[in-house]
Amino acid sequence: MRLDKYLADMGVGTRSEVKKLIGWGRVTVDSKVIRDPGFKVSEESLVFADKKEIKYVKYCYYMLNKPRGCVSATSDKEDKTVMDVLKNAGLKTPVFDELAPVGRLDKDTEGLLLITNDGEMAHFLISPKNHVDKLYYAETEGIMTEEDISLFKKGMEFNDFTAAPADLRILSSNDAGSKVHITIHEGKFHQVKRMVAKCGKTVTYLKRLEFGPLKLDSKLKPGNYRELTIDEVNSLRCLQEK
Ligand code: URA
Repeated sequence: MRLDKYLADMGVGTRSEVKKLIGWGRVTVDSKVIRDPGFKVSEESLVFADKKEIKYVKYCYYMLNKPRGCVSATSDKEDKTVMDVLKNAGLKTPVFDELAPVGRLDKDTEGLLLITNDGEMAHFLISPKNHVDKLYYAETEGIMTEEDISLFKKGMEFNDFTAAPADLRILSSNDAGSKVHITIHEGKFHQVKRMVAKCGKTVTYLKRLEFGPLKLDSKLKPGNYRELTIDEVNSLRCLQEK
């Protein structure tokens, strides 16, 4: 990659600003002053601008605790999006415009949403054939029963899709309803709500707790985000390599 593109991509300045910086001799590559904006660098090059190291970050991965009331999209005419939430929470990165949520949570669903500019990874994670598990905590109106556990285990037919077998675990019930954990191995449209509805009950609260190997960080309040750790990113890469 050209040195001027590298610096501009990493947010050092616009293409013309970084060209000037390079021309003034304020940029070094592997300890040598480079004055040619077209000088070729790679992700391994040691690049400094004004004595500050400029690391090349190609892919970014963030865990957002999605709050209720925003949609899982990069833009929307009516609703606040998860990207607006990230911006309000202070996320600044030169690749902000490349970021997108991996899959969708409904507007009224909370919880773990992965946001990245790694399109290949995103595609892998949302493809139903890769069976990436998702664990949800749900509260229902109507009491979930042992019979419902069997219905979930068998999988369900809908007009527009077949839901593969899923796991329902009842955490507690009272006269009004139940608190449950539901694990699905795909991610079809409104899948959890529709599977619960098929049992004659209604989801009144839904939160995603896990997405593949990722667990929602309990320190993240709704609307907060953090970067994935190296171990978390590697755990996602391991899935891809299996
Ligand atoms: N299933 C649903 O019904 N809604 C979600 O947001 C996620 C899974």
